[in-house]
Amino acid sequence: MQTPLLEASGPIEASAPGKIILLGEHAVVYGYPALAGTIDRRIIARGRLSNIARLTTPKGISGASLAALRRAFAIALEATHSPPLTMTLHSSLPVGVGLGSSGAMSVAVARLLWKAAGNPAPTSAKVEAVAMAMECVFHGTPSGLDHTTCARGGLLLFQRNLVRRVSTLEPLWLVVALAGTREPTHEVVSALRKRRGNWPRRYERIIREIAALVREGAQAVRNGELRTLGDLMNMNQGLLAALGVSSAPIENAVFRLRDAGAIGAKLTGAGGAGGAVVGLFATREEATKANRRIRGFVTEVGSIA
Ligand code: PMV
Repeated sequence: MQTPLLEASGPIEASAPGKIILLGEHAVVYGYPALAGTIDRRIIARGRLSNIARLTTPKGISGASLAALRRAFAIALEATHSPPLTMTLHSSLPVGVGLGSSGAMSVAVARLLWKAAGNPAPTSAKVEAVAMAMECVFHGTPSGLDHTTCARGGLLLFQRNLVRRVSTLEPLWLVVALAGTREPTHEVVSALRKRRGNWPRRYERIIREIAALVREGAQAVRNGELRTLGDLMNMNQGLLAALGVSSAPIENAVFRLRDAGAIGAKLTGAGGAGGAVVGLFATREEATKANRRIRGFVTEVGSIA
């Protein structure tokens, strides 16, 4: 395989932002829509021409996670015709907490491999196909929301086979807090799938109600109705708790955010024993002030590509 770009320009780089889900996680697994947007933290993949294709694995990853990362990288290499590239990964995004780190990493890796294979501006479809194959290694049967949001950027109303862009009338400022200890996404998703299998009618009622909140939320965002969006986020949190994917550390963080002035607060991502929790604020200044108490980080949602 030729690597014209590498030979011409030496080291190369590609990146992708992380994401948060404003409304609709878990319901999206069952084919309902979710509202998600990119955040101002990213994963960067850097590469150099080398004799063999290799990923220098980040420190702190071991066991099953390391094995999955190697397997996913091998799949991505094969899909991009194995450009001979030594790659390193760098992150300003907290990893493995529900902020789309595996999706962002998959997109960054796919972009860099396509670049190294002589395709400097691959279509989003090409990038997403490789990223989805990697995500299946990490998460089993993901909805595809994570890597699609990270690849396309902005704010999306995502549903399997139907992805619509949502424009925001008002900027959406969030404080992101980290709570408890995260379980792997696939474990939280499969435990819920089991409960839903045991009691399908009751669980389906809740999941459908979450889908209704998502549709109202997309409209609230389009109209710039932040208070409505916040209320929908609070209700979504209640329904996620009803589905059994919240926990004491998450609830504590949700209430700390509300006490600090959040218009709405909820877990984002898979939840479970812990993970990322987001609070919506009317302005950047209010978010920044609240974050002095929360000690998470402030980000705008959906304005980042
Ligand atoms: O926690 P994360 O970033 O892996 O997000 C999971 C979102 C779920 O809806 C729970 C799963 C999925 O595949 O969409």
